[in-house]
Amino acid sequence: MAQQGQAFANTQLLQLFPTCVWLHDLKPEDYEPLNRRIAPVIRDLVSDKKPSLAGLTWQTHHDLHHEEAFAELTTYARTAARGVLEHLQVDYSDFQITGCWANVNPQQTQHRAHTHPNNFLSGVYYVEVPDGRDGLVFHEPRAQALVISPKVKKLSALTGSEANIEVREGRLVLFPSWLQHSVATTRAEGERISVSFNFMLSDYTEEFSAPRWSNR
Ligand SMILES: [Fe+2]
Repeated sequence: MAQQGQAFANTQLLQLFPTCVWLHDLKPEDYEPLNRRIAPVIRDLVSDKKPSLAGLTWQTHHDLHHEEAFAELTTYARTAARGVLEHLQVDYSDFQITGCWANVNPQQTQHRAHTHPNNFLSGVYYVEVPDGRDGLVFHEPRAQALVISPKVKKLSALTGSEANIEVREGRLVLFPSWLQHSVATTRAEGERISVSFNFMLSDYTEEFSAPRWSNR
């Protein structure tokens, strides 16, 4: 674009229909005590799953947002989701956390690509991360964009078919629930612990499902 600018009176780059992922890093003085407190609670919740599910991700039940131990984290998640809805200029009255569960990934485990249906936003908060390079992978949502995939000088978000987001302790990642994501095989020793959230707009059928146009 810079070189072309010499030949044209004006050039513009329009990034239409972008796919947003929102990163929120808690302050160390906030996430360090929080993570120290909830990590043993999560390990305790999955302790009965470890023997029978060797080599797989261990997950807790889906209602952690109703438990006192997760109240502080839930408040951070709600604050972040509110910011995203504001960024998107969604006109809503309220939203709810519809599910919250913890994941424990031992070494050499992965999580296949998936979406979180029937929700508007989803998120993951990282409690323990042995190696952040084994991150959260987002997949190109536009299937037609991969029909022609020329060789490129450097892969970037403009041309790649997936994006590996580096994760770290105290980081909360929010993304559209429809966006396919996966967890690459964890190489580092130790267990990676994360907490997942789903968010949905309240009163969806009453507020949003009716046609947005009018013929009157
Ligand atoms: Fe997920």
